[in-house]
Amino acid sequence: MKRVFSGVQPTSQIHIGNYIGAIKRFVELQNDMDCFFCIVDLHSVTVPQDPKELYENSLQLAALYMAVGLDPSKVTLFIQSHVPAHAELSWLLQCNSYMGELNRMTQFKEKSLGKDTVTTGLFTYPILMAADILLYDTHYVPVGNDQKQHLELCRDIAIRFNNKYGESFVIPEPLIAKFGARIMSLDDATKKMSKSNENKHSKINLLDSPSKIKKSIMKAVTDSESEVRFDVENKPGVSNLMTIYNVLSGMSLDEIEGKYKGMGYGTFKKDLVEVVVSALEPIQSRYEEILKSGEVEKVLKEGSQRANEVSNKILDRVKKKMGFVTF
Ligand code: AMP
Ligand code: TRP
Repeated sequence: MKRVFSGVQPTSQIHIGNYIGAIKRFVELQNDMDCFFCIVDLHSVTVPQDPKELYENSLQLAALYMAVGLDPSKVTLFIQSHVPAHAELSWLLQCNSYMGELNRMTQFKEKSLGKDTVTTGLFTYPILMAADILLYDTHYVPVGNDQKQHLELCRDIAIRFNNKYGESFVIPEPLIAKFGARIMSLDDATKKMSKSNENKHSKINLLDSPSKIKKSIMKAVTDSESEVRFDVENKPGVSNLMTIYNVLSGMSLDEIEGKYKGMGYGTFKKDLVEVVVSALEPIQSRYEEILKSGEVEKVLKEGSQRANEVSNKILDRVKKKMGFVTF
């Protein structure tokens, strides 16, 4: 069975960009692959976090993973900091990667822009991500488009390591959807929908109420025309809303264009509210049930046990290759 690994940071709320670009796809993979889905708390602390919020967000993300349909009897769900091998392999890989390649990472440039101080952790973040992936002999990594460069770096590091020390790592491949891998901000369709955007109407969170969803969609930027047509270059706002409509309803872009011909944006947006609310409603009610059931802790404990077993073997293999004494 092929292996899959992916991670989401337990920072703030999870939005429909995260869902469409990544988490929804995790659910689709769980029946055919041996999947490891991680709550990457060590990545979160590369920027300041309130300890109480980090704690709550980590457990909430676990409940949300299950609420969207990830089945703990099929997939391994765990918290990154519960598996020390991630931090250890990250160090070993740091000693086999270069400042120059990290300097090229666009996400580091974006996240550090205008900051007075930046942690070294933010700089080496992509190497921790490479360690996450390589520790599980991962074949496929489902992610949104913004992680493409990090995946390329991971592959480069793995190939270089294999050339230097002999076959040590499986070379992973990104699974980036052709469609929906970059959901844009509702208030500015030239920027990706992002957790860190302070305008709450720039995004729809998975736990948003129907009235908040309605407000955000009705406010979403479109253009001065009135035609519901998919044209990313000339109509980025409308095309973004159509993408969300398409992925959450299953209706094709052609069908959507046909349905709203001559009707303007008002009706289209009102229907999109319905589509989003009915996609999120079952997730939200399952989420509440899961939190109440108290099963999150048990699932995470079992998940970390399996993750530790699998990753320790691979870490051991790598340390032997590098010449560390192991007994
Ligand atoms: P993060 O919240 O940064 O940990 O992201 C979790 C996953 O969501 C990653 O696979 C990202 O690539 C994906 N993602 C984040 N923002 C978006 C977006 N606006 N559109 C599509 N995928 C996204
Ligand atoms: N860097 C990813 C993000 O911000 C999260 C992440 C950490 C990840 N480790 C990973 C994704 C390993 C895929 C595989 O979205």
